[in-house]
Amino acid sequence: QDLDPAERSIVLVGLMGAGKSCIGRKLAQRLGLRFVDADSEIEAAAGCSIPEIFERHGEAAFRDGERRVIARLLESHDRQVLATGGGAFMDAGTRRAIAGTGVSVWLRADLELLLRRTSRRSKRPLLRRGNPRETLSRLIGERYPVYAEADITVDSVDGPPDETVDRVLEALK
Ligand code: S3P
Repeated sequence: QDLDPAERSIVLVGLMGAGKSCIGRKLAQRLGLRFVDADSEIEAAAGCSIPEIFERHGEAAFRDGERRVIARLLESHDRQVLATGGGAFMDAGTRRAIAGTGVSVWLRADLELLLRRTSRRSKRPLLRRGNPRETLSRLIGERYPVYAEADITVDSVDGPPDETVDRVLEALK
């Protein structure tokens, strides 16, 4: 808790399709920081894709790996922009780890925007089964109250990504 805000990593949280990876990459460029995508790090550590991890080992194993990978990334104390997978912030241990070294930023988006952005579903095991509208509205109900605990909330706009990046930079000031 004693880290200066200017030394803290920026950790993006929010649902699938909120734009965490895209906004995170651009934000890191603008700030001259390293960008890290937790999902890609988990895939690299596991040596297979996220859908394969879910299929072969199940969601619980994925969540364990996710918690460990995010803790390791945050322990590096190297100021960075970290995009987390949509479920990561739901874990109390991960929220504590983020609170220790990072500033959490919830990229909030409404259902219609999330649906448009996740229409290519193949990479997202949670959207592979059932109706995406129903799944995403259920996740909004379950997760938005927890995402609201993030330090900062920024609305992800349906326009050029730089507009959302500007909003994040403004909110971080
Ligand atoms: C998940 C979101 C995904 C990925 C996994 C589970 C979730 O990440 O971690 O499929 O529980 O919301 P994105 O939010 O980057 O799509």
